[in-house]
Amino acid sequence: MSTQATQAAEIAINSNGNTAKKILVLGATSGIAEATCRIWAAEGAQLFLVARNANKLAAVAADLKLRGASYVGTAVADLDDTNIHPELLAHAVNSLTGMDIAYVALGVLGDQAKAEQDFEQAAQIIYTNFMAPVSLLTWLANYCVQRHAGVLAVISSVAGDRGRKSNYLYGSSKAGLTAFLAGLRNRVDREGVTVMTIKPGPVQTSMTAGMKGAEKFADVNKVAAAIAKGIDKRVDILYVPAIWRIIMLVVRHIPERIFKKLNL
Ligand SMILES: NC(=O)c1ccc[n+]([C@@H]2O[C@H](COP(=O)([O-])OP(=O)(O)OC[C@H]3O[C@@H](n4cnc5c(N)ncnc54)[C@H](OP(=O)(O)O)[C@@H]3O)[C@@H](O)[C@H]2O)c1
Repeated sequence: MSTQATQAAEIAINSNGNTAKKILVLGATSGIAEATCRIWAAEGAQLFLVARNANKLAAVAADLKLRGASYVGTAVADLDDTNIHPELLAHAVNSLTGMDIAYVALGVLGDQAKAEQDFEQAAQIIYTNFMAPVSLLTWLANYCVQRHAGVLAVISSVAGDRGRKSNYLYGSSKAGLTAFLAGLRNRVDREGVTVMTIKPGPVQTSMTAGMKGAEKFADVNKVAAAIAKGIDKRVDILYVPAIWRIIMLVVRHIPERIFKKLNL
Protein backbone atom coordinates (compact mmCIF):
# COMPACT_ATOMS: atom_id res chain seq x y z
CA MET A 1 0.00 0.00 0.00
CA SER A 2 1.32 3.45 -0.80
CA THR A 3 -0.50 6.60 0.13
CA GLN A 4 -0.53 10.20 -0.93
CA ALA A 5 -2.31 12.67 1.25
CA THR A 6 -0.25 15.75 1.62
CA GLN A 7 -2.36 17.17 4.42
CA ALA A 8 -5.43 16.09 6.32
CA ALA A 9 -8.78 17.30 5.06
CA GLU A 10 -10.29 20.12 7.04
CA ILE A 11 -13.90 21.17 7.41
CA ALA A 12 -14.72 22.66 4.03
CA ILE A 13 -17.81 24.57 2.98
CA ASN A 14 -19.00 24.10 -0.60
CA SER A 15 -20.44 26.78 -2.89
CA ASN A 16 -23.99 26.13 -1.57
CA GLY A 17 -22.84 26.96 1.94
CA ASN A 18 -23.13 23.30 3.06
CA THR A 19 -20.37 21.32 4.74
CA ALA A 20 -18.51 19.37 2.06
CA LYS A 21 -19.16 15.62 2.12
CA LYS A 22 -16.26 13.38 3.18
CA ILE A 23 -16.27 10.39 0.85
CA LEU A 24 -14.04 7.31 0.78
CA VAL A 25 -14.02 5.54 -2.60
CA LEU A 26 -12.75 1.96 -2.88
CA GLY A 27 -12.04 0.95 -6.46
CA ALA A 28 -11.85 4.61 -7.49
CA THR A 29 -10.65 3.98 -11.06
CA SER A 30 -13.90 2.14 -11.85
CA GLY A 31 -15.83 3.84 -14.66
CA ILE A 32 -18.97 4.09 -12.53
CA ALA A 33 -17.04 5.35 -9.46
CA GLU A 34 -15.13 7.94 -11.46
CA ALA A 35 -18.33 9.32 -13.01
CA THR A 36 -19.93 9.54 -9.55
CA CYS A 37 -16.85 11.26 -8.12
CA ARG A 38 -17.06 13.92 -10.84
CA ILE A 39 -20.50 14.85 -9.51
CA TRP A 40 -19.19 14.99 -5.94
CA ALA A 41 -16.10 16.95 -6.99
CA ALA A 42 -18.30 19.60 -8.62
CA GLU A 43 -20.10 19.92 -5.25
CA GLY A 44 -16.74 20.56 -3.54
CA ALA A 45 -16.59 17.18 -1.75
CA GLN A 46 -13.56 15.88 0.13
CA LEU A 47 -12.49 12.58 -1.39
CA PHE A 48 -10.14 9.77 -0.45
CA LEU A 49 -9.55 7.46 -3.42
CA VAL A 50 -8.20 3.91 -3.26
CA ALA A 51 -7.26 1.94 -6.39
CA ARG A 52 -4.62 -0.56 -7.44
CA ASN A 53 -3.37 1.14 -10.62
CA ALA A 54 -1.13 4.06 -9.58
CA ASN A 55 -1.10 5.83 -12.96
CA LYS A 56 -4.87 5.66 -13.49
CA LEU A 57 -5.43 6.75 -9.89
CA ALA A 58 -3.14 9.77 -10.25
CA ALA A 59 -4.99 10.83 -13.42
CA VAL A 60 -8.42 10.45 -11.75
CA ALA A 61 -7.27 12.38 -8.65
CA ALA A 62 -5.84 15.25 -10.72
CA ASP A 63 -9.06 15.49 -12.76
CA LEU A 64 -11.25 15.55 -9.62
CA LYS A 65 -9.16 18.35 -8.10
CA LEU A 66 -9.61 20.37 -11.29
CA ARG A 67 -13.36 19.73 -11.14
CA GLY A 68 -13.63 21.30 -7.69
CA ALA A 69 -12.99 18.64 -5.02
CA SER A 70 -11.91 20.50 -1.89
CA TYR A 71 -9.54 17.68 -0.90
CA VAL A 72 -8.27 14.56 -2.68
CA GLY A 73 -6.19 11.96 -0.84
CA THR A 74 -5.13 8.73 -2.51
CA ALA A 75 -3.80 5.29 -1.67
CA VAL A 76 -2.60 2.63 -4.10
CA ALA A 77 -3.66 -0.81 -2.89
CA ASP A 78 -4.67 -4.18 -4.25
CA LEU A 79 -7.89 -4.63 -2.28
CA ASP A 80 -7.68 -8.42 -2.60
CA ASP A 81 -5.04 -8.08 0.12
CA THR A 82 -7.52 -8.08 2.99
CA ASN A 83 -4.71 -8.05 5.60
CA ILE A 84 -4.00 -4.39 4.85
CA HIS A 85 -7.65 -3.27 5.09
CA PRO A 86 -7.71 -2.14 8.74
CA GLU A 87 -4.58 0.02 8.38
CA LEU A 88 -5.64 1.36 4.99
CA LEU A 89 -9.15 2.30 6.15
CA ALA A 90 -7.92 3.90 9.39
CA HIS A 91 -5.47 5.97 7.34
CA ALA A 92 -8.21 7.01 4.89
CA VAL A 93 -10.66 8.20 7.55
CA ASN A 94 -7.86 9.98 9.43
CA SER A 95 -6.89 11.77 6.22
CA LEU A 96 -10.50 12.78 5.66
CA THR A 97 -10.84 13.65 9.36
CA GLY A 98 -14.07 11.62 9.37
CA MET A 99 -16.25 9.90 6.80
CA ASP A 100 -19.84 10.52 5.67
CA ILE A 101 -19.96 8.04 2.79
CA ALA A 102 -17.98 4.94 1.84
CA TYR A 103 -18.48 3.97 -1.80
CA VAL A 104 -17.40 0.40 -2.58
CA ALA A 105 -17.05 -0.01 -6.35
CA LEU A 106 -14.34 -2.58 -7.00
CA GLY A 107 -15.31 -5.64 -8.99
CA VAL A 108 -14.24 -8.02 -11.74
CA LEU A 109 -16.39 -9.71 -14.35
CA GLY A 110 -13.92 -12.58 -14.67
CA ASP A 111 -13.82 -15.26 -17.34
CA GLN A 112 -16.92 -17.44 -16.89
CA ALA A 113 -15.81 -20.10 -19.42
CA LYS A 114 -12.42 -20.42 -17.71
CA ALA A 115 -14.01 -20.41 -14.25
CA GLU A 116 -16.19 -23.40 -15.24
CA GLN A 117 -13.01 -25.45 -15.68
CA ASP A 118 -10.60 -23.82 -13.25
CA PHE A 119 -11.45 -23.29 -9.58
CA GLU A 120 -8.59 -20.77 -9.19
CA GLN A 121 -10.37 -18.47 -11.67
CA ALA A 122 -13.70 -19.02 -9.91
CA ALA A 123 -12.13 -18.28 -6.52
CA GLN A 124 -10.54 -15.08 -7.85
CA ILE A 125 -13.93 -13.72 -8.95
CA ILE A 126 -15.51 -14.61 -5.62
CA TYR A 127 -12.58 -13.13 -3.69
CA THR A 128 -12.61 -9.71 -5.38
CA ASN A 129 -16.39 -9.36 -5.59
CA PHE A 130 -17.36 -10.88 -2.24
CA MET A 131 -14.53 -11.57 0.21
CA ALA A 132 -12.73 -8.23 -0.24
CA PRO A 133 -15.94 -6.13 0.12
CA VAL A 134 -16.97 -8.17 3.19
CA SER A 135 -13.61 -7.41 4.79
CA LEU A 136 -13.84 -3.68 3.94
CA LEU A 137 -17.46 -3.42 5.09
CA THR A 138 -16.83 -5.21 8.37
CA TRP A 139 -14.36 -2.48 9.38
CA LEU A 140 -16.40 0.35 7.87
CA ALA A 141 -19.70 -0.76 9.46
CA ASN A 142 -18.12 -0.93 12.90
CA TYR A 143 -16.57 2.53 12.39
CA CYS A 144 -19.99 3.95 11.45
CA VAL A 145 -21.85 2.15 14.26
CA GLN A 146 -19.48 3.71 16.81
CA ARG A 147 -20.45 7.14 15.45
CA HIS A 148 -24.14 6.34 14.79
CA ALA A 149 -23.74 7.86 11.32
CA GLY A 150 -22.61 7.16 7.80
CA VAL A 151 -23.66 5.72 4.46
CA LEU A 152 -22.14 2.54 3.07
CA ALA A 153 -22.98 2.56 -0.66
CA VAL A 154 -21.94 -0.66 -2.36
CA ILE A 155 -22.16 -1.67 -6.01
CA SER A 156 -23.59 -5.19 -6.37
CA SER A 157 -25.39 -6.13 -9.61
CA VAL A 158 -28.68 -7.29 -11.11
CA ALA A 159 -26.64 -10.41 -12.00
CA GLY A 160 -26.90 -11.37 -8.31
CA ASP A 161 -30.70 -11.61 -8.48
CA ARG A 162 -30.67 -14.93 -10.36
CA GLY A 163 -27.87 -17.22 -11.51
CA ARG A 164 -27.66 -17.88 -15.24
CA LYS A 165 -25.29 -19.95 -17.31
CA SER A 166 -23.44 -17.10 -19.02
CA ASN A 167 -22.13 -15.50 -15.81
CA TYR A 168 -23.04 -17.48 -12.71
CA LEU A 169 -19.63 -17.05 -11.07
CA TYR A 170 -19.90 -13.27 -11.25
CA GLY A 171 -23.63 -13.52 -10.43
CA SER A 172 -23.14 -15.73 -7.39
CA SER A 173 -20.38 -13.46 -6.03
CA LYS A 174 -22.80 -10.51 -6.32
CA ALA A 175 -25.68 -12.57 -4.87
CA GLY A 176 -23.49 -13.24 -1.83
CA LEU A 177 -22.66 -9.55 -1.58
CA THR A 178 -26.34 -8.57 -1.88
CA ALA A 179 -27.30 -11.00 0.91
CA PHE A 180 -24.44 -9.76 3.09
CA LEU A 181 -25.59 -6.15 2.59
CA ALA A 182 -29.21 -7.07 3.47
CA GLY A 183 -28.06 -8.63 6.73
CA LEU A 184 -25.69 -5.76 7.52
CA ARG A 185 -28.50 -3.24 6.86
CA ASN A 186 -30.78 -5.17 9.22
CA ARG A 187 -28.04 -4.96 11.88
CA VAL A 188 -26.91 -1.33 11.56
CA ASP A 189 -29.97 0.63 10.38
CA ARG A 190 -31.07 0.97 14.02
CA GLU A 191 -27.65 2.48 14.79
CA GLY A 192 -28.22 5.34 12.32
CA VAL A 193 -26.09 3.79 9.57
CA THR A 194 -27.39 3.45 5.99
CA VAL A 195 -26.41 0.44 3.88
CA MET A 196 -27.26 1.00 0.23
CA THR A 197 -27.22 -1.87 -2.27
CA ILE A 198 -26.69 -0.56 -5.79
CA LYS A 199 -27.80 -2.94 -8.54
CA PRO A 200 -26.84 -1.68 -11.98
CA GLY A 201 -27.97 -3.36 -15.17
CA PRO A 202 -25.38 -3.35 -17.97
CA VAL A 203 -23.47 -0.04 -18.09
CA GLN A 204 -20.97 1.28 -20.64
CA THR A 205 -17.62 1.00 -18.82
CA SER A 206 -14.34 -0.82 -19.42
CA MET A 207 -15.96 -3.89 -17.81
CA THR A 208 -18.43 -4.25 -20.67
CA ALA A 209 -16.41 -2.70 -23.51
CA GLY A 210 -16.50 -4.96 -26.58
CA MET A 211 -19.53 -6.94 -25.41
CA LYS A 212 -22.26 -7.65 -27.94
CA GLY A 213 -24.83 -4.83 -27.82
CA ALA A 214 -22.64 -2.68 -25.54
CA GLU A 215 -23.72 0.45 -27.42
CA LYS A 216 -27.22 -0.06 -25.95
CA PHE A 217 -25.99 -0.35 -22.36
CA ALA A 218 -26.76 2.47 -19.93
CA ASP A 219 -24.76 5.68 -20.06
CA VAL A 220 -22.29 5.79 -17.18
CA ASN A 221 -22.97 9.45 -16.36
CA LYS A 222 -26.73 8.83 -16.07
CA VAL A 223 -26.05 5.83 -13.84
CA ALA A 224 -23.68 7.91 -11.69
CA ALA A 225 -26.26 10.71 -11.36
CA ALA A 226 -28.90 8.20 -10.17
CA ILE A 227 -26.44 6.72 -7.66
CA ALA A 228 -25.45 10.15 -6.26
CA LYS A 229 -29.15 11.04 -5.90
CA GLY A 230 -29.92 7.68 -4.28
CA ILE A 231 -27.13 8.19 -1.74
CA ASP A 232 -28.49 11.66 -0.86
CA LYS A 233 -31.94 10.11 -0.30
CA ARG A 234 -30.46 7.16 1.63
CA VAL A 235 -32.22 4.62 -0.55
CA ASP A 236 -31.82 1.00 0.64
CA ILE A 237 -31.82 -0.78 -2.73
CA LEU A 238 -31.26 1.07 -5.98
CA TYR A 239 -31.84 -0.57 -9.36
CA VAL A 240 -30.19 1.57 -12.01
CA PRO A 241 -31.54 2.27 -14.61
CA ALA A 242 -34.82 1.91 -12.67
CA ILE A 243 -36.41 -0.38 -15.32
CA TRP A 244 -34.17 -3.18 -14.03
CA ARG A 245 -36.34 -3.47 -10.91
CA ILE A 246 -39.21 -4.62 -13.15
CA ILE A 247 -37.03 -6.74 -15.43
CA MET A 248 -35.52 -8.62 -12.49
CA LEU A 249 -38.92 -9.04 -10.82
CA VAL A 250 -40.02 -10.89 -13.94
CA VAL A 251 -36.76 -12.84 -14.28
CA ARG A 252 -36.88 -13.94 -10.62
CA HIS A 253 -40.40 -15.31 -11.09
CA ILE A 254 -39.75 -17.48 -14.16
CA PRO A 255 -40.34 -21.06 -12.94
CA GLU A 256 -37.10 -23.04 -12.63
CA ARG A 257 -38.36 -25.81 -14.96
CA ILE A 258 -38.54 -23.17 -17.73
CA PHE A 259 -35.56 -21.06 -16.62
CA LYS A 260 -33.14 -24.00 -16.75
CA LYS A 261 -33.88 -24.46 -20.47
CA LEU A 262 -33.28 -20.81 -21.42
CA ASN A 263 -30.07 -19.50 -22.99
CA LEU A 264 -29.39 -16.53 -20.77
N1 LIG B 1 -20.48 -2.11 -16.01
C1 LIG B 1 -21.54 -2.86 -15.74
O1 LIG B 1 -22.29 -3.25 -16.64
C2 LIG B 1 -21.85 -3.25 -14.32
C3 LIG B 1 -23.13 -3.80 -14.06
C4 LIG B 1 -23.44 -4.17 -12.76
C5 LIG B 1 -22.51 -4.00 -11.74
N2 LIG B 1 -21.28 -3.47 -12.04
C6 LIG B 1 -20.34 -3.33 -10.92
O2 LIG B 1 -19.98 -1.97 -10.82
C7 LIG B 1 -18.70 -1.88 -10.18
C8 LIG B 1 -17.83 -0.96 -11.00
O3 LIG B 1 -17.61 -1.53 -12.26
P1 LIG B 1 -17.40 -0.68 -13.61
O4 LIG B 1 -18.52 -1.00 -14.51
O5 LIG B 1 -17.13 0.71 -13.24
O6 LIG B 1 -16.14 -1.42 -14.24
P2 LIG B 1 -14.59 -1.07 -14.22
O7 LIG B 1 -14.38 0.28 -14.80
O8 LIG B 1 -13.92 -2.25 -14.82
O9 LIG B 1 -14.27 -0.96 -12.66
C9 LIG B 1 -13.92 -2.03 -11.84
C10 LIG B 1 -12.88 -1.49 -10.88
O10 LIG B 1 -12.55 -2.45 -9.89
C11 LIG B 1 -11.16 -2.34 -9.66
N3 LIG B 1 -10.60 -3.52 -9.04
C12 LIG B 1 -10.78 -4.81 -9.43
N4 LIG B 1 -10.10 -5.61 -8.61
C13 LIG B 1 -9.47 -4.82 -7.71
C14 LIG B 1 -8.60 -5.07 -6.63
N5 LIG B 1 -8.23 -6.31 -6.31
N6 LIG B 1 -8.14 -4.02 -5.91
C15 LIG B 1 -8.51 -2.76 -6.23
N7 LIG B 1 -9.33 -2.45 -7.25
C16 LIG B 1 -9.80 -3.47 -7.98
C17 LIG B 1 -10.58 -2.13 -11.04
O11 LIG B 1 -9.26 -1.65 -10.96
P3 LIG B 1 -8.29 -1.59 -12.25
O12 LIG B 1 -8.66 -0.30 -12.93
O13 LIG B 1 -6.94 -1.59 -11.65
O14 LIG B 1 -8.60 -2.82 -13.06
C18 LIG B 1 -11.58 -1.11 -11.60
O15 LIG B 1 -11.22 0.19 -11.24
C19 LIG B 1 -18.17 -3.31 -10.09
O16 LIG B 1 -18.40 -3.79 -8.77
C20 LIG B 1 -19.03 -4.05 -11.07
O17 LIG B 1 -19.13 -5.43 -10.74
C21 LIG B 1 -20.94 -3.08 -13.29
